[in-house]
Amino acid sequence: MAKIIDGRATAESVYAGLRSEIAELKTRGLTPGLAVVLVGEDPASRSYVRSKDKMCRELGLHSVKLELPAATTQRELLGCVDELNRDRAIHGILVQSPPPGHIDEAAIIRALDPEKDVDGFHPLNVAKLALGDPTGFVPCTPLGCQRLLAEAGIVVRGSHVVVLGRSMIVGKPLALLLMQKGAAADATVTVVHSQSRDLVAITRSADILIAAIGRAQFVRGEHVRDGAVVVDVGINRIDDANASRGYRLVGDVAFEEVAEKASAITPVPGGVGPMTIAMLMANTVKACRLRNGERTA
Ligand code: GUN
Repeated sequence: MAKIIDGRATAESVYAGLRSEIAELKTRGLTPGLAVVLVGEDPASRSYVRSKDKMCRELGLHSVKLELPAATTQRELLGCVDELNRDRAIHGILVQSPPPGHIDEAAIIRALDPEKDVDGFHPLNVAKLALGDPTGFVPCTPLGCQRLLAEAGIVVRGSHVVVLGRSMIVGKPLALLLMQKGAAADATVTVVHSQSRDLVAITRSADILIAAIGRAQFVRGEHVRDGAVVVDVGINRIDDANASRGYRLVGDVAFEEVAEKASAITPVPGGVGPMTIAMLMANTVKACRLRNGERTA
């Protein structure tokens, strides 16, 4: 039976470090500020945005939460981004994805001040990740996966990491992050996706398998080599008549079956999810430091 990698406990240790950094910044009159913008009513997105705002408050960060109606126009949203770009109290801006269909998300991302793009989605930050420039922002979920592996003592250097999924939010940046030089990196990375031939043969060759395809319980025992480490990035709602809300959350991994074979596995919930929010807080603190002339990440 696999060891369970505890994302909540690891996130708590990240917060312990952040709390002392934030206290030190406050002695210098600096309070990192984050603005989170949600357009529309998607229940999962609303719940994420609330968690982010709540965590900011718990850490003593300045937090602005903007919940805009689904009918908000592109021009109105660009106006909102422009205002936040110019707001000196705000160091980080996050526009919750996905926005309603009439919004051109790529244009919104390009309108963000890259120095406030704590999501790491702006083309300049994507380029900095590809270049290995530490002044950029790395997307929070990939950063959270990397930190979780590092804190769990899993050897990434030289390992074969197979990333299942090629999204701009997780798969692609995660591949770049783990293949780069450095601590908790230096991996041999393969990316597989819905069009990959011989998918099972490839996932079975992974030392570390990271599932980020957004399909409930897609990864089964047959995808996993005995002793592999499995990281589950998925958060899927599936109907469950026995649950009080009528649904429950499951990952992209069939947990019970895969836990029989893996040496370590992240649960859903309580795995990567808490780390994503922790990395958003860390990126906001970093944005504040960078704006105030510090060169360190
Ligand atoms: N939706 C799902 N994950 C994310 C994320 O990391 N950032 C934003 N902005 N939206 C998301």
